[in-house]
Amino acid sequence: MDVVTGSEKLRGAVAMDGPAGTGKSTVSRRLAQAGGAAYLDTGAMYRAVTLAVLRAGLGADAPEADVVAVARAVRLQSGTDPAAPSIELDGEDVESQIRGAPVTRLVSAVSAVPAVRAQLVERQRELVADALANSGGAVVEGRDIGSVVLPEASLKVYLTASPEVRAARRAAQDRKAGRPTDLDAVLADVRRRDELDSTRATSPLHAATDAVVLDTDDLSVDAVLEKLLALAHERGLLT
Ligand code: DC
Repeated sequence: MDVVTGSEKLRGAVAMDGPAGTGKSTVSRRLAQAGGAAYLDTGAMYRAVTLAVLRAGLGADAPEADVVAVARAVRLQSGTDPAAPSIELDGEDVESQIRGAPVTRLVSAVSAVPAVRAQLVERQRELVADALANSGGAVVEGRDIGSVVLPEASLKVYLTASPEVRAARRAAQDRKAGRPTDLDAVLADVRRRDELDSTRATSPLHAATDAVVLDTDDLSVDAVLEKLLALAHERGLLT
């Protein structure tokens, strides 16, 4: 099904939260495309900072102050076109490097640092304000968008799925991208990141109280997108 009609317009901010492997990125991009809106992948921003931390020779045991210093020093640029989202670190396109295993292993630790979050949340709010000023609508995906970054979002969605289904989806994505993959290792990593992301002290992963929760275990990407489009129509955000 091709829903990229371009004839409808999404207005306002849509917050898309949930753990990895729920299809969040795909449906967020397609929703933004369908509504001629901007798309912001906040996970890519945490990943890019993590890449900079690794390049600085720091690991999971690094002092928090050193991680914060790296985060403050980097220049991040997030492209918000849903057809070609991009992320640059100090002017270098790092889109493919931020998806590799070293970054994926360390990103939960880096994103648990409160000063890193404070800095990125501020940047995310600026990017969304620019996007709303330019195109009127934005779909923003992450873990804390509805709860922290954009508590006033017009629509908040929390996507979930079982760890097994999410691991299978992640492994399929890795295979498609030509990255080495091992389903058991991916499942272990999904569980480890769920635990870290939902138990950290600052902005733990949880559904905002006013979020619409969608379990995607038995839903295809197209089915999720249809539900999102219906919700946006119901709320008068897509006309
Ligand atoms: O969506 P992703 O897998 O690319 O996100 C990478 C990591 O960044 C994830 O483990 C949690 C963290 N993250 C976060 O803490 N807050 C966000 N708004 C987005 C991502």
